Amino acid sequence: MIKDQWYIACFDKELKENKLLKRKIVGEEIVLFKNTEGKVSALEDRCCHRNVHLSNGEVHEGKLKCGYHGWEFNTSGKCVHIPMLEDNQSIPSAACVKAYPIQYKYKAYWVYFGEESKRQDAVLPEMPELDNYPYVFNRHTLKANIKLVAESLFDAQHINHVHKHSINTLLGKLREPKTEYSIEIKDKSLHGSYQRINNSNLFEKLYFGWEKHIQTKFAFWYPHSSMLDSYFPKHMHFPARRLIIYEHFYEIDENELMMIQITAWKNIFRFNPPFAKWFMKRKSDQIVEEDIVFLESNRHWHDKEKLTDLIIKGDEPTISFMQLWNKNFNRSHEKLD
Ligand code: FES
Ligand SMILES: [Fe+2]
Repeated sequence: MIKDQWYIACFDKELKENKLLKRKIVGEEIVLFKNTEGKVSALEDRCCHRNVHLSNGEVHEGKLKCGYHGWEFNTSGKCVHIPMLEDNQSIPSAACVKAYPIQYKYKAYWVYFGEESKRQDAVLPEMPELDNYPYVFNRHTLKANIKLVAESLFDAQHINHVHKHSINTLLGKLREPKTEYSIEIKDKSLHGSYQRINNSNLFEKLYFGWEKHIQTKFAFWYPHSSMLDSYFPKHMHFPARRLIIYEHFYEIDENELMMIQITAWKNIFRFNPPFAKWFMKRKSDQIVEEDIVFLESNRHWHDKEKLTDLIIKGDEPTISFMQLWNKNFNRSHEKLD
């Protein structure tokens, strides 16, 4: 599992006042909570007293109170109160739990699980739209190969097949014919674009415009985030519109993955924001469910037969993705040796 990275533990709207939030990310069990000053902390989900899950406890006056004997921990993981302590005893210095590095960015709390010496090398994806655009997100657990999950968003050639119904009503009838890609591979990310053909019907064209070609950008940041960005230019009295899908994924443990799909948009259904959210959430769920069928199917055959895929020239984004993945994976592996 790739631990030396920042992963989204939760969005701010998922962390409720006076509530504990339990997560398992790259095999690490954590519990998140907010103190009375609003500081958020990610602690190891294990009480140092009798080794039980702290997430079975509660938030008490801004401290995490263990549910078993009531020991209380502050946001640094230090035990600050033990109810059973005798008057002549002080809190043992070993009474603390691990606090993970945490940062707030793009309306989400990101937690770092790796070695301290590698923290400065871990990059966050660029998701500036999440600060300004309306967005929805959904979480899905699946049993799949993380590399296939990572590239599924920018595997353009699957869209016409897997998402032929869901994408049509989201973006009109866009088609990905034999596509020319432009791809730039950087040190820890790749960025590319291609054009999609707009075969929409009259009603869809009235909304999305008459442009024959729709510019689509994509990106991937090793090892946990990808993006697909569709742009519709200004048309009649409709301003330019964008639909950006991010996917953020990680191994929960050896067996299962978490995939968070985040859909952000600008100027789509702008006169009815609640409807826009409802619509986008529904579509987003549908799109991920359509993908999961194939992502899990691939893992089924790989596990059963130890097969390799037959990649051809038309799988160009996959080839670039593999180069980037292998370079970064081998580099972090070498450091371990
Ligand atoms: S096990 Fe947590 S207080 Fe005893
Ligand atoms: Fe897909």
